[in-house]
Amino acid sequence: MAEQTLVADRTGELRMDAAAKEERYREVAMMIESAMEGEPDLLAGMTTVVCLLHNAFPYFYWTGFYRRVGPARLLVGPYQGTMGCLEIQFASGVCGAAARERRTQLVTDVHAFPGHIACDSASASEIVVPVLDARGDLIAVLDVDSTVPAAFDETDQRWLEHIVGMLREKEALPVASAG
Ligand code: SME
Repeated sequence: MAEQTLVADRTGELRMDAAAKEERYREVAMMIESAMEGEPDLLAGMTTVVCLLHNAFPYFYWTGFYRRVGPARLLVGPYQGTMGCLEIQFASGVCGAAARERRTQLVTDVHAFPGHIACDSASASEIVVPVLDARGDLIAVLDVDSTVPAAFDETDQRWLEHIVGMLREKEALPVASAG
């Protein structure tokens, strides 16, 4: 179990330089791995990823998963931040593009992205990473939004892809009822 949550200071400069990002991702990835070790449940894993990532980075404004619930439909999953849209079709927005193309979308200016869905007008840039299961099927996307323009770069992409890869072997487990 992780014994702590890294909590970033959000009262000053929100941006982090490349070296600071790299170091923070390294720490957070280890914490996530250790927190999820031995726990096969996908929902517990997603919730842990969101909590540890969101708190660790000052420029993460909205951090969460959209789960695939149909052939071309995403529904909100665990997240931290302001109220998110509940449903996103594959045809729409940055999340839809990541799901459709099964490729990370790095968007430096959301207002320039055709079809961007503005759940919160404070968002300025975002990154969306597809989440695949052990068979290679798309099960979700991880969406991180920032109020800082061009907040995300190749370092975020590399580490976030690595972190969602830790969910590959997890399963959506049924809830056991008592009695
Ligand atoms: N920005 C996303 C929508 C989800 S929210 O921002 C939480 C998009 O265009 O896919």
